[in-house]
Amino acid sequence: MNTMSISRRKFAQLLGAGAAVAIVKPAFSLATETVASPPVGRSRPQATSTSTGVVRLSSNENPYGPSPKALKAMTDSFGLSCRYPDVHNDELIDALAKLNGVDRDQIVLGDGSSEILKLCAETFTGPTRGNLVAADPTFEALLNYASINGAEVMKVPLTSSFSHDLAKMGAASKDGLIYICNPNNPTASITPKNELREFIAKTPRQTMVLVDEAYFHYADSPDYESVIPMVKDHPNLIVARTFSKIYGMAGLRCGYCVAQHETIDRIRPHQMWDSVNCMALAAAVASLNDPDQVANGKRLNSEAKTFVTAEIEKMGYKQIPSQANFIMFDVKRPVVPLIKALKERNVQVGRLFPALPNHMRLTIGKKAEMEIFLSTFRQVMA
Ligand SMILES: Cc1ncc(COP(=O)(O)O)c(C=O)c1O
Repeated sequence: MNTMSISRRKFAQLLGAGAAVAIVKPAFSLATETVASPPVGRSRPQATSTSTGVVRLSSNENPYGPSPKALKAMTDSFGLSCRYPDVHNDELIDALAKLNGVDRDQIVLGDGSSEILKLCAETFTGPTRGNLVAADPTFEALLNYASINGAEVMKVPLTSSFSHDLAKMGAASKDGLIYICNPNNPTASITPKNELREFIAKTPRQTMVLVDEAYFHYADSPDYESVIPMVKDHPNLIVARTFSKIYGMAGLRCGYCVAQHETIDRIRPHQMWDSVNCMALAAAVASLNDPDQVANGKRLNSEAKTFVTAEIEKMGYKQIPSQANFIMFDVKRPVVPLIKALKERNVQVGRLFPALPNHMRLTIGKKAEMEIFLSTFRQVMA
């Protein structure tokens, strides 16, 4: 038995142990969204020890972890860490091209889909390129990247059914970039497929449309669809996806976008070389080869979501219909003191979204975590 095989086995055991305690006691806590967010919408990492028993329902992560195949692929890749990751880059790009029915030159990988959002802000927004139009509320990272880039940022409130107000967004656009998060974070709501299809078809070519499908796998409404098939007819369409959600790889950092190759050629020069590390690449390829990962992730999320939404309904709080791995509901009072009170009791929920000051965003964790949330929530509301 050589040193490498011992260290691989040990690493696998450590990951296994970490996955087990992560049910209600994450061994450590990565970046989280907090009440007072820094510019890109995320706070500094918080160290929480196993003994504190923090229930983390704040960042829309997948509590079930990565695929066992991804864990094995990572341990098998230890020895390749001395090499630059280009070989694995190709493997993942091939797999994603096949999965999405596009050519390999239609894909850019990112250090999380956050890097894709940043690249789009840099490529398509700014004083000379155009403004950014986004919903309010929505996932704010791109808004911050665009404004740092000197772009005007226009926020258009969601409609009364919490979909994107596409007519108003189109009217507010000045050539730059329109951001559509579907399903939308933080509301977990969708923008109906017919409306989105029509909007993309009629948006002028000089205006780029970025559709963020981070939560694609969790949406099961007949009114929802991915717009990746529309990329072939629309040079101004970019679709972002991530391995952070259903694939359970938030801490590894891997995402990508699909667009026509001329659009990809505009985006790529803004990117740092080799921005995706070899462990994330190996894990992503292996995850795509594990059909159980998506199926189980959807099923487990749906079961825990059905449980917690029924309980919240019984308590009389109105929820926005959720098409994601989180929910948002009206707590009928300012949410900030509740976020604080829950945090003091070791339950972390989503931050304040100023457009919806009485709404709480709650990630769907494991059923045991949701039970802890419910009893703690009842305490702080009493
Ligand atoms: C809508 C949306 N897009 C993108 C991201 C960024 O994800 P990542 O950079 O981990 O791929 C998130 C993270 O929560 C998100 O909610």
